[in-house]
Amino acid sequence: MAKKKDSLLDSCITRRAFLLGSGAVVAGTVLLTTVPGFEGRAMAARMTTYPRKKIGRLSRLKVDSPVEFTYPDSGKNSRCILVKLGVPAGGGIGRMRDVVAFNTLCTHMGGGLSRMYKSADKVLGPCPFHQSTFDLTRHGMIVSGHATESLPQVLLELDGDDIYAVGMIGLIYGRYDNLKG
Ligand code: FES
Repeated sequence: MAKKKDSLLDSCITRRAFLLGSGAVVAGTVLLTTVPGFEGRAMAARMTTYPRKKIGRLSRLKVDSPVEFTYPDSGKNSRCILVKLGVPAGGGIGRMRDVVAFNTLCTHMGGGLSRMYKSADKVLGPCPFHQSTFDLTRHGMIVSGHATESLPQVLLELDGDDIYAVGMIGLIYGRYDNLKG
């Protein structure tokens, strides 16, 4: 089962790397073994880094209680959630590797997902437009609905008790560059 999970994760990242590699958003190739939550994975993926922004404190997070923030800018498409899932997740930080963050615009046609977290399944969705649902334990991978792209995941860093957003994997819906609408 663990092997199947790993191969799903690898294919998710590989696909994103390919898609991002064909667009203007690419800022660089980063070996994911250097990114918290990706240690031990011998693969590389393209991702975009942005200025570090403090988005919360680990000690203030409660399991299954998402906190909203904006990243990488303050535009309306930049709405994200930070959530402590209570179970380990891809790219998660913290002692349990269970703290993750995602942009909340559906990758299909931009439906708003910020209030659609379902704690029982650790998913975001279903989207109010066409029912797409995204797995927050597996890098925002689509699990049902019309969307074909995973949710953009916010890369996180932990500095003491402070949580910082430092970059993203994926492209925010409606943008050709995550910093340009
Ligand atoms: S906009 Fe979300 S499924 Fe279509």
